[in-house]
Amino acid sequence: MRFTIAIDGPAAAGKGTISKAVAAHFGFAHLDTGLLYRAVGARTLDGTDAVAAARALQAGDIEAENLRTAEVAQAASKVAVIPEVRAALVDFQRAFARRAGGAVLDGRDIGTVICPEAEAKLFVTASAEVRAERRFLELEAKGAEVTRAQVLADVKERDARDMDRSEAPLKPAGDAVLIDTSALSIDEAVAKAIATIEARIA
Ligand code: DC
Repeated sequence: MRFTIAIDGPAAAGKGTISKAVAAHFGFAHLDTGLLYRAVGARTLDGTDAVAAARALQAGDIEAENLRTAEVAQAASKVAVIPEVRAALVDFQRAFARRAGGAVLDGRDIGTVICPEAEAKLFVTASAEVRAERRFLELEAKGAEVTRAQVLADVKERDARDMDRSEAPLKPAGDAVLIDTSALSIDEAVAKAIATIEARIA
């Protein structure tokens, strides 16, 4: 069975948590496509050319440990504006999407560019303030020395770059179902996502 679930949205809206839970619920494989851009961004911090890094990317590179830092997130968002970087990552994502057994991909352009034919599309969002607070608590728990104001500025900067780029900008697909998680608990958001997809399957 081939069934693709596309889950897009801005940073820290809850996409990752929802995608993992949805994949587990349906027994589908999951790809966090942000990790592809993060792996490329991380290479540029060592001085590697972004396009060369994207073309040389191996599946195992997204398992690297240092990809979740704020520095790598900003680097990822910068390499993500380069059309040749995006082009180099398309085939891997499309092959993953059509694998037998079903797939969940989360990112920014899955429903619009990578898998416009996906059987189910969600756009998960939340206010910038709510997203920044969630990210701040995550970073604080890891012992990072950041302020709320810094994290909010970071979230807004990344949103602007992701939404304003000309190539595959962050926006909901016309046929995506919007889920605003600002006032939802994790369990409520996951239940809403699963119910939406089940309605599509039926
Ligand atoms: O989802 P994330 O925070 O790990 O993504 C990091 C950056 O990668 C994000 O700011 C923009 C980019 N990205 C993208 O352009 N397209 C995707 N499908 C996924 C991520």
